[in-house]
Amino acid sequence: MPEDKVNNITLVTCTAPVNIAVIKYWGKRDEDLILPINSSLSVTLHQDELKTTTTVACSSSFKEDRIWLNGKQDDINQPRLQSCLRELRRLARKRRCDGDPGTDALAYSHKVHICSVNNFPTAAGLASSAAGYACLVYTLSRLLGVEGELSEVARQGSGSACRSMYGGFVQWCKGDQDDGKDSVAEQVEAESHWPQLRVLILVVSAERKPVGSTAGMQTSVETSPLLKHRADSVVPGRMEEMIAAIRRRDFAAFGELTMKDSNQFHATCMDTYPPIFYLSDVSRSVISLAHRYNQHYGETRVAYTFDAGPNAVIYTLDQHLAEFVQVVRHYFPPETNGGQFLRGLPVSPVVLSEELTSSIGMTPISKGISYIISTKAGPGPQLVEDPSLHLLGSDGLPK
Ligand code: DP6
Repeated sequence: MPEDKVNNITLVTCTAPVNIAVIKYWGKRDEDLILPINSSLSVTLHQDELKTTTTVACSSSFKEDRIWLNGKQDDINQPRLQSCLRELRRLARKRRCDGDPGTDALAYSHKVHICSVNNFPTAAGLASSAAGYACLVYTLSRLLGVEGELSEVARQGSGSACRSMYGGFVQWCKGDQDDGKDSVAEQVEAESHWPQLRVLILVVSAERKPVGSTAGMQTSVETSPLLKHRADSVVPGRMEEMIAAIRRRDFAAFGELTMKDSNQFHATCMDTYPPIFYLSDVSRSVISLAHRYNQHYGETRVAYTFDAGPNAVIYTLDQHLAEFVQVVRHYFPPETNGGQFLRGLPVSPVVLSEELTSSIGMTPISKGISYIISTKAGPGPQLVEDPSLHLLGSDGLPK
């Protein structure tokens, strides 16, 4: 049994990962069920560097459902949170009616306390809703003894969250049904499939908060003819090509498609009326740096992708990692009095050749990038066995 019974409280703690899409989801055909206009594909990142941890407690003595996010009590009545809670309770009740012995047969009728934290700064503007909803759904499902297809529930919290329910390389099949039953995530390959693949997150020093994805994609669906063309005629072929590139571990094909798809997503943002700009001057410099670097070697060694904000995510192979980190350090000299510039998995220092820097030929931009997180692909949600790691105490309140 994953839970601990203390003072009549059942506590379960789990962790869930962030994912970064290489074929982007942008646009819904159903706002309530969160059904997308196109399929998408992402890499689940390792939880050592980026994860959400969630504890859910339930007890017959709790008076109401409550939630605490990163130390602060939050609104439990948000419609998306309510959709996930309602759906999981319905599945638990159904399981009991069907005669399946659940972990705690009556837990679905009790109120819950939810406490969730990220191991990365929310201020960095990294997509935290995917890990957050995946973690909430996974933890609640363990508490309520619900099994089976859960990406469909996570999707109703935040579209991209359904892909965080699996590790490695994950596709979200858009589905065709109106009820969304076929709009689910599935693993394409496990995280162990391509161990040479590495990920760098370049956290750009942002000046302003960009338009959120939910509102942004809604305006895009309403106004961008390019987005419709993308969903109908471009993404289906790209999904097939991307899956094939991953299966044969073809970085050149994977990288080129990743960059083209990020660029097309940002083009649909520009085609939105009024236009939405997520890329900053620093983002655009990272784009030219990557192309100049690849150009110098005459092959695709690094690939960038950008979500609804200015941070760059770089995919590369381990043999090129150290040099590219040094290239970033050279062209975006960090603030010396700040914290560590390179965080996460260690990267050995290298010296750049004069030939490389003169061929790149860009003027360095100081302090454009706050720090780099070095990581790789990782597994899906995990149960935390150690009861000392629960975020809620035996009174059901944050520790
Ligand atoms: C640009 O999943 O955050 O990161 O479904 O409205 O919650 P909602 O949107 P969200 O959108 C993510 C958009 C993206 C691309 C992607 O992750 O595929």
